[in-house]
Amino acid sequence: MPSRNIVNIILLGPGKVGKTFLNILMKNIEHIENTYRISLKVTGVFSSEREITDSNGLALSSLKKIIQGKKILRRATKPSNVHMLMNSGRPFILIDTTSSDNTAELILSALKKGGFAVLSNKRPLCLNFDIYNNFLKSGAQRLFFETTVGAGLPVIETLKSLIETGDEIIELNGCLSGTLGFIFSQIESGMTFSGSILSAKKMGYTESDPREDLKGSDVARKLLILSRLTGMHKEITDINLQALYPEKMNALTVDNFIKEISIYDRIYKGKMTEAKKSGKTIRFIARIKGNKLSANLTMVKKSGDLGSLQGPDNLIVIRTKRYFHHPLIIKGPGAGLEVTAAGVLSDILKIIKIIKGGIS
Ligand SMILES: NC(=O)c1ccc[n+]([C@@H]2O[C@H](COP(=O)([O-])OP(=O)(O)OC[C@H]3O[C@@H](n4cnc5c(N)ncnc54)[C@H](OP(=O)(O)O)[C@@H]3O)[C@@H](O)[C@H]2O)c1
Repeated sequence: MPSRNIVNIILLGPGKVGKTFLNILMKNIEHIENTYRISLKVTGVFSSEREITDSNGLALSSLKKIIQGKKILRRATKPSNVHMLMNSGRPFILIDTTSSDNTAELILSALKKGGFAVLSNKRPLCLNFDIYNNFLKSGAQRLFFETTVGAGLPVIETLKSLIETGDEIIELNGCLSGTLGFIFSQIESGMTFSGSILSAKKMGYTESDPREDLKGSDVARKLLILSRLTGMHKEITDINLQALYPEKMNALTVDNFIKEISIYDRIYKGKMTEAKKSGKTIRFIARIKGNKLSANLTMVKKSGDLGSLQGPDNLIVIRTKRYFHHPLIIKGPGAGLEVTAAGVLSDILKIIKIIKGGIS
């Protein structure tokens, strides 16, 4: 009987997504290994300062402890053991579920060594264009990042497939932030701006500091990733980005920010009332049109695709040469641990198929 391929998995970022991913992997590993006649070994788990490694694969009991949040990672060595694990001679997948700017070097190194990388972390893809281009030059076909935009929704794959089959993106409009989608549908149903922020925070939709959502930088990163996929050589600073509060409020504590943001209630109520007069509503829309990128509050038809979107769902409308009169629409939950972690696993399955097919 032919021996099974062994594929090593190295995980950076055992946080909420990372742990959920390990849990889903463990639940499905037997089925995956039998289906693809492959052995998957998690050889290392790394946080920014701690690590646990075993070049033969971590024991199931250790993985279970990590999933349960038990502190079994030890202080990391310098230089990091990630490099040692990437030099094992076996096919490997480096997974980045951190929220760090500092993983780009490891990702590049993985690709240069012929390894694969799967990212839910947007940041490495949003550094300057030269770094992104280096990723592509070192292994575009071995870099996967489906969950960076729309979590488990098939946004990246769809866009890639359109482009690779020779279609041309004419315009892309999207509600790419579940948090901002929720806030503006609450305002539409009569709640104040500050009240809707508080309510989003209570529901767990915002970051612990809601300014992270309200300044639009997460949406800007997603938009930059999409634009680079379409072949644009853009930087994050090229995006015409509207923050939803004035910069001076960055100096406040989170509690004081939440107290003081109510002074803007009247402004957002006014914008919504104005929009409603002409059958419209307001949404935070990320847009690629021609050579321009923007992410800002926009009046849209209430009855349209973006205007009728309610709650925290994401929606992306892609108008292309082929999908011109009836644009292609992708809609659904754009965040959430289960859908994101399953999206990471789905990228891994794509890689396993490549490895089994012998494509490099
Ligand atoms: N949550 C979602 O629904 C969702 C959806 C799509 C994409 N994402 C993205 O997925 C990523 C993870 O999200 P999360 O909610 O799981 O965040 P999280 O709970 O904050 O986890 C991040 C993890 O990364 C570790 N870390 C930070 N810097 C690191 C480094 N340089 N090397 C190795 N590990 C490092 C952190 O541990 P230490 O701080 O101890 O180092 C922590 O364990 C983020 O980039 C997020 O934007 C999340």
